[in-house]
Amino acid sequence: MNASALNTKKEVVCPKWIMPIADALSRVEQTIDSATNSSVYIASQISSYVFAAGGKRIRPCLVLLSAGISGGDLEAEEVIRMAAAVELIHTASLLHDDVIDSAVARRGVHTANAVWGNTISVLGGDFLLSKAFCLLGDIAGNEVISVLSRAAVAMTESELLQSICENDIDLWRSEYWRIIRGKTASLMGACCESGAILARASDVARSALRAYGESLGVAFQITDDLLDIAGDPAITGKQIGSDLANGKFTLPVLLALKRKDFPRELLSKDRIPIEQARRIAEFVVQCGAVAEAKQVAEKIAAQARGALNIFEQSPYKCALEILASSVVAREF
Ligand code: IPE
Ligand code: IPE
Ligand code: MG
Ligand code: MG
Repeated sequence: MNASALNTKKEVVCPKWIMPIADALSRVEQTIDSATNSSVYIASQISSYVFAAGGKRIRPCLVLLSAGISGGDLEAEEVIRMAAAVELIHTASLLHDDVIDSAVARRGVHTANAVWGNTISVLGGDFLLSKAFCLLGDIAGNEVISVLSRAAVAMTESELLQSICENDIDLWRSEYWRIIRGKTASLMGACCESGAILARASDVARSALRAYGESLGVAFQITDDLLDIAGDPAITGKQIGSDLANGKFTLPVLLALKRKDFPRELLSKDRIPIEQARRIAEFVVQCGAVAEAKQVAEKIAAQARGALNIFEQSPYKCALEILASSVVAREF
């Protein structure tokens, strides 16, 4: 597959709530660009391919907004570096995740593994991860480094746990919440906590922001899981039913499995063919389990907003509140 044919820079959609951090965000983009520049051509090429494809940049926004709500300086070099580093860690995890899931589409374009194969993708992910830690190394103090390192460990442990749960409904029932907390909520919690640390927030503010980020992450992942069943591939940029095909039984499916008329004959101990996965997905939508999962996500997003109650009103608080509502209302 030809990378250059697909590598068109997407227009950045800038919602209103981004305005208080718009300048800082564009500096984050420049930092990502220069941090991923390499004399080894393929390292620069794979990096610019994945970043130019788009992405919502939620994690850098969390760092910047958490620093802002805590009264810190968003334009401080260390805040910008931290925001760039978390996006590098996130994108590295996507490169690895797409290899694990044999995914063919991401951010509306072919995955890096579809373009260059698994070896280049895994090493490209390692490159981004190493560059993230170079950026973190230039930030004074160890605290943010240990917060981010713990999140990176939790993400990896969760991908391992998820991998041994593959195709096992009982394991998914018992481990679903642990998996989503580890693979998604841990990084979002760490983004918020590190923004608070860099702004020298009080312990109370720091824990409130950590709690906000973790709840946001759980609500975000449940929404991602239901978009895999009921989303529009033209909008999500991913294939429908790919979780089921990969033996992942996420919340909407676990809720649907409680229905007596669940089409159990479509389940299998081996890989479920994508067409069969789509038929299961149709049942999950029709029986109301997607709507039920959405309600669960909305409740957790409300808990995230509640964690912000200790803060005074500010454009940053307002943006974090809007973000919590929009991650569950999102279509991609
Ligand atoms: C995708 O995250 C991986 C999950 C945690 C579900 P995003 O949906 O934030 O990915 P991009 O960065 O916007 O592509
Ligand atoms: C999130 O899980 C992946 C990471 C946190 C790396 P998913 O496997 O659901 O993410 P998508 O759907 O591929 O983006
Ligand atoms: Mg995946
Ligand atoms: Mg997913």
